[in-house]
Amino acid sequence: FDWIYLTGDLPAHNDWEQTKSGQVSIFNKIIGLFNEYLPNKPLFYSIGNHESDPVNSFPPSSITEYSMSWLYDNAAEMLKKWLNTPDAIDTLKSGGYYSIDFNGLRIISLQTNYHNKQNWWLLVNSTDPDGMLQWFIEKLLDAEKKGIKVHVIGHIAPGDDPWSQNYKKIVLRFENTISAQFFGHSHKDKFRVLMDFETSTDPRPYSVVYIGPSVTSMTELNPGFRIYTVDGNYNESSRQVLDHDTYILNITDANLTNKPKWIHEYSAKDAYNMTNLTPDSWLSLLKECLTNNNLFLKYYHYISKSFNMESQCSGHCQHSTICSCLSTFSNISACDAIAPNLVTPEQMMLYEAAHQDC
Ligand SMILES: *[C@@H]1O[C@H](CO)[C@@H](O)[C@H](O)[C@H]1NC(C)=O
Ligand SMILES: *[C@@H]1O[C@H](CO)[C@@H](O)[C@H](O)[C@H]1NC(C)=O
Ligand SMILES: *[C@@H]1O[C@H](CO)[C@@H](O)[C@H](O)[C@H]1NC(C)=O
Ligand SMILES: *[C@@H]1O[C@H](CO)[C@@H](O)[C@H](O)[C@H]1NC(C)=O
Ligand SMILES: *[C@@H]1O[C@H](CO)[C@@H](O)[C@H](O)[C@H]1NC(C)=O
Ligand SMILES: [Zn+2]
Repeated sequence: FDWIYLTGDLPAHNDWEQTKSGQVSIFNKIIGLFNEYLPNKPLFYSIGNHESDPVNSFPPSSITEYSMSWLYDNAAEMLKKWLNTPDAIDTLKSGGYYSIDFNGLRIISLQTNYHNKQNWWLLVNSTDPDGMLQWFIEKLLDAEKKGIKVHVIGHIAPGDDPWSQNYKKIVLRFENTISAQFFGHSHKDKFRVLMDFETSTDPRPYSVVYIGPSVTSMTELNPGFRIYTVDGNYNESSRQVLDHDTYILNITDANLTNKPKWIHEYSAKDAYNMTNLTPDSWLSLLKECLTNNNLFLKYYHYISKSFNMESQCSGHCQHSTICSCLSTFSNISACDAIAPNLVTPEQMMLYEAAHQDC
């Protein structure tokens, strides 16, 4: 592989035992391991909700009484080898986000704690914290003018909060510039198809959000990581994801044999018989999963990185799982794209409550 996206949450989740200095030393230890073992692999990181202390606490810079420089300045120092422009370092230090051009591709790393509902600083003012979305638009407009494609990385994937609705509208406006989006946080292997119901008469999938598997086994999961095959690097490359391969460590087996072994779990095109990984193809897969329970169970088992291959899910469970892979930028139920009235809003709320992300 050529470069690395590390989408945050480096510390363990024993939140109330943590301290600022402990968080910094865990950060430095893990980034230090990347520098030691993969010294020539460019590393692009985004900040998780667990990096702070207390957890989830990320005051925007407008709140001058509480500075985040203890975290951001250290991150800038540790990551400067690959974030080698004053512009990237400046925004990382002031707000925890940056944009960097790498091999003709623009990588924009967002501070997604600005839409984390557990970041209580947002109760003071949640309107575009730090002006990051406005900054995002400017970086995208500049990329569009120059014909540069963009990958977005972040920790918490867009959800249904107002920040996320605006984010998804921006992605729609720049769908020809944003080639791919990569997030983490859920620990699980998931994806979301962004649907345009509002500006298009025929609901149209316009982008895909990849939510990568975590290395942590928390909870009832195998550790995993993913290698994306991306178009490029050549003139006029689409920079889109062509395929992806997921690797897992079977923790049940490692317990029995005392030998951790990473194995190839699946490749997307092969496992799902897809000809490409466009938004249209992911939507078709979701539609097929509605009627083909074996295909659906394959996806369902991959969500947990094959931790429990015997687990079952049908009926409401199946429908809600499929619907959670669809998203719009307003309050319209994205699920209507595949089957009207399949899941009631109440069922969807219950499903989401039961699958609270970390
Ligand atoms: C909240 O932040 C926005 C954007 O910076 C600003 O326009 C607005 O005036 C702020 N609202 C309050 C109540 O301070
Ligand atoms: C790509 O190739 C075309 C045709 O050769 C050329 O006009 C254009 O300037 C090139 N673009 C870049 C970004 O190099
Ligand atoms: C692995 O072993 C540990 C220690 O005995 C135990 O706590 C854990 O539940 C086991 N996990 C699995 C997946 O077998
Ligand atoms: C994981 O290991 C256990 C114990 O060896 C085995 O039963 C199970 O099939 C393995 N799972 C996968 C996905 O390989
Ligand atoms: C895979 O997809 C092709 C069409 O792209 C279809 O002809 C074929 O039957 C599919 N195979 C399976 C096993 O579903
Ligand atoms: Zn997280």
